[in-house]
Amino acid sequence: MRRAVCPGSFDPVTNGHLDIVGRAATLFDEVVVAVGVNASKSRLFTPGERTAMLEEVTSAFPNVRVAVFEGLIVDFCREIGAVAIVKGLRGAGDYEYELPMAQMNSHLTDVETVFLPGAVGNAFVSSSLIKEVAGLGGDVRGLVPDAVHERLVARLAERSG
Ligand code: PNS
Repeated sequence: MRRAVCPGSFDPVTNGHLDIVGRAATLFDEVVVAVGVNASKSRLFTPGERTAMLEEVTSAFPNVRVAVFEGLIVDFCREIGAVAIVKGLRGAGDYEYELPMAQMNSHLTDVETVFLPGAVGNAFVSSSLIKEVAGLGGDVRGLVPDAVHERLVARLAERSG
């Protein structure tokens, strides 16, 4: 059984994330989508909410499950017996950001990092931009799964009301 981890904040999950998770699921026997908990960062959705959305939108992939992790991603990989961390790269900026983390993780363990090129159509899609644009009334439908869009709009309305 070759298991991989797709880590991230997923605040919220986007179609870009979903593309990478789905493709990772064709490369590995099992993919664990790992929701990072970093108490110092303020998030729109709680870890439980992010996990529930991920479970819903990955339910079509039989070999994908979702978990929350705290601490080092390599320790989580070791705990669950994952051999690889899979990350999507939208462009050179992502590579610059991800490479030192991949090298640090490789220094810490023998867990391999696998980069998948993001789909061209998702190159501009990030959770932070989605939140900013939706928060200012922009239409982000089609960039996040429909179920996520509903919850995003509802949460932003709660926050502004
Ligand atoms: O979606 P994000 O915010 O880019 O996800 C970042 C995440 C959670 C994948 C990254 O911050 C992470 O791996 N955090 C766990 C802590 C850790 O292992 N840090 C050292 C990385 S070299």
